[in-house]
Amino acid sequence: MTTLLYNIGILYQTFKKAPALRRGNQLSELPMIENAYLLIKDHTIEDFGPMTDLGDMTVDRRIDLSHKSVLPTWCDSHTHLVYAKDRSDEFVDRIQGLSYQEIAAKGGGILNSAKVLRETSEDDLFDSAKKRLTELISLGTGAIEIKSGYGLDLDAELKMLRVIQRLKEDSPVTIKATFLGAHAIPNEFSDTDAYVAHIIDGILPIVKEENLADYIDVFCEKGYFSVPQMEQILEAGFKYGLKAKVHVNQFNSIGGIQGAIKHQALTVDHLEVLMEKDLADLKKSDTLPVALPSCSFFLEIPYAPARRIIDNGLPLALASDYNPGSSPSGNLNLVLSLACIKMKLTPEEAVNALTINAAFALGLEDTHGSITPGKHASFIITDARCTLADMAYHFGSNRISEVFINGQSTQEL
Ligand code: NIG
Ligand code: FE
Repeated sequence: MTTLLYNIGILYQTFKKAPALRRGNQLSELPMIENAYLLIKDHTIEDFGPMTDLGDMTVDRRIDLSHKSVLPTWCDSHTHLVYAKDRSDEFVDRIQGLSYQEIAAKGGGILNSAKVLRETSEDDLFDSAKKRLTELISLGTGAIEIKSGYGLDLDAELKMLRVIQRLKEDSPVTIKATFLGAHAIPNEFSDTDAYVAHIIDGILPIVKEENLADYIDVFCEKGYFSVPQMEQILEAGFKYGLKAKVHVNQFNSIGGIQGAIKHQALTVDHLEVLMEKDLADLKKSDTLPVALPSCSFFLEIPYAPARRIIDNGLPLALASDYNPGSSPSGNLNLVLSLACIKMKLTPEEAVNALTINAAFALGLEDTHGSITPGKHASFIITDARCTLADMAYHFGSNRISEVFINGQSTQEL
């Protein structure tokens, strides 16, 4: 089945060959074609070009875009999409003055989510996660990473990972699963080292045996997992072929970046607190920094110094961190606006960080992140002729009229 989309106002992120990771100044380059066509065959992109190059062509379906813009779907490389219940009561506590850490210390936070998740059935978890995912697809997300980490024991972690597995089979978008057993220390373990040993010897081998994870993650932070504990877990994961994508430097810089680099982590995520030494070490590594501006917005903590990261010649990806505690939104259009408004990224830089670089952060650079022949035909159609600046500027409103995933409009799914 061939489909021709023609009269495209602006076609963004066009590359004849899959592009490399964008770093430093390259993040401000974003190729586009005004007045363009896009040809798709079955599930993939076949060709594109200016309307002036479009000769006679026999296709199965023609769609007149009436000068609307097209760009590749967003890639979300960091989410906690599977959870049992919102935490809006803690949100009110925070409005009244308690900090995220104070709420966690009185039994709220991640442990609160774990308690409810253990009591929730796999089917109910699947249904609520599917509903969230459907909303995200309509907002332009075409590939997504989803973490475990609200189970914190064998049964509940496996339950979460099986839900993610079912979402992979059920959803049209590409999903990667990350095992985050080391998200918090469950109440039944008074000793963190004993829980780390249980993750390594009791949970990880079964996760691997059932092939339920693509990546491994640790929340490396004061009061959670130390750098040596994170390193032990990453080493064990690496032996099972799981690359690391880790939570580091959210509240404190304690050497998590260096530990992650040592274990060849694919990404280091959060980075709200970033020292000069952290930046210098990242520059010598292949590890990709990932910033999560909606978490900073919601918790009112500092934003990762994304401008400084890019100005130092580093690559950068942006993600939503969708979760019930620190970012109850997976809307990457909002992340785009926040990156521009709060982190002073240009729209081109932010879009590169949400497409090409975000695809790298998911290990999906061969199939997602750009309009390139052979890649998945997954793209966003805006509601009018819309520039990237227009999209970032209209924060909180939806400029998307339609989303295609693998060659099919979500309106037909
Ligand atoms: O990325 N910081 C650790 N994990 C999540 C928050 C999880 C929660 O509060 O439920 C994050 O911000
Ligand atoms: Fe997170």
